[in-house]
Amino acid sequence: MNEFNVVILGCGGYIGSHLLDRLLAKDGVSVSGWDLENRKIEQHLDDPRLRFHLADLGSTQSLAELEKEIDAADAVINLAAICNPAEYNTEPLRVLKANLFDLQPVIDLCAAAGKWIIHFSTSEVYGRTLSSYIPSDGEVRDDHFVLREDSTPLIMGPVKNQRWTYASAKQVVERLIFAHHYESGMPFTIVRPLNFFGPRMDYLPGHDGEGIPRVLASFMSALIDGKPMQLVDGGTARRTILSIDDAMDAVMLMLERPEQARNQIFNLGNPHNEVTISELAQTMRRVYASITGDPSFGRHPIVSVPAEDFYGPGYEDCDRRMPSIENARKQLDWSPTKSLEQTLLETMADYHATYVCSSAAAPARRPEAVGQAARA
Ligand SMILES: NC(=O)c1ccc[n+]([C@@H]2O[C@H](COP(=O)([O-])OP(=O)(O)OC[C@H]3O[C@@H](n4cnc5c(N)ncnc54)[C@H](O)[C@@H]3O)[C@@H](O)[C@H]2O)c1
Repeated sequence: MNEFNVVILGCGGYIGSHLLDRLLAKDGVSVSGWDLENRKIEQHLDDPRLRFHLADLGSTQSLAELEKEIDAADAVINLAAICNPAEYNTEPLRVLKANLFDLQPVIDLCAAAGKWIIHFSTSEVYGRTLSSYIPSDGEVRDDHFVLREDSTPLIMGPVKNQRWTYASAKQVVERLIFAHHYESGMPFTIVRPLNFFGPRMDYLPGHDGEGIPRVLASFMSALIDGKPMQLVDGGTARRTILSIDDAMDAVMLMLERPEQARNQIFNLGNPHNEVTISELAQTMRRVYASITGDPSFGRHPIVSVPAEDFYGPGYEDCDRRMPSIENARKQLDWSPTKSLEQTLLETMADYHATYVCSSAAAPARRPEAVGQAARA
């Protein structure tokens, strides 16, 4: 990659931190990075090739500065979002603002400057799959749950189920980007990630944040802090898990092959790593037993909780999301390589090293203690 100048919005988050690791390992790359936080990218803050702006994209001051940075950039990568399911129905206005209204002026700037925008959307734009509307005794075909970028319908639930605020905002942003491409030729790439798992994904409550993080960190927190792993509505929903390393390989290929990546939508997921959330919990406790060398983690308590108790009213879920990754295979010659087991092993070992081995945090408690805590 020769002399490449990129603006990254949301570069202080989970994916941003991994993308910075990859980009700044290359010669000739310079980055204008924007985020409200920088804890995950501290190791890069002194790099002269990173101009980091600790700033809110929603402010008018940021927009004026961004306009100059976008004009000078080869590409703009948007990762900024509020993307935690626990907030979709509890803070719907914040979710709509961060994922839609704050981004519109930035996308308009890209269009005015004719810049290539690489926008991280989500597989949530597919909404509920057709299979979730089919009666349990009805015939389910592949095309009821296999998600194809150009043909699968995007089905949102009712407005009162505010869980769909995130998905709806993301869908409108995709349509806005496509409309700019249609009307003024703005080059774009839309990435729809499906559950990228890796180190630094989310905080652990009570250690370095508060609230309900995404499922990986929720289960890690339960294992480390001796609480039961909680399955929302029994954990029957199925998801595919992609290693963050495989995901970053795909993004780097997009940057290296702009002709193949431009004006495309890519699902990025691993169809071979499909599990129910219940199976994910069972696999994680088994993997954690091997990381800690303590077989009793293999019996760590797993309980079911109703979605309404866990997330509050207005929550519903999608039963199954199976990505077609044919477009990424065809355009980028990309396919994922890491198994679920390997992805979990690497990710959980990093969490264990960070929160148990090298911090002042209490060491992981044994399930005997968990049982007492759960009964208390
Ligand atoms: N991680 C996944 O598996 C996954 C799955 C689906 C979609 N995505 C999408 O990928 C993108 C990145 O996800 P992530 O997992 O890194 O999320 P993340 O929450 O770790 O990172 C998002 C970053 O955006 C920043 N941000 C939000 N609002 C901002 C504002 N107004 N001004 C400046 N910064 C702001 C946050 O501070 C955060 O650091 C998001 O768009 C998300 O919707 C990720």
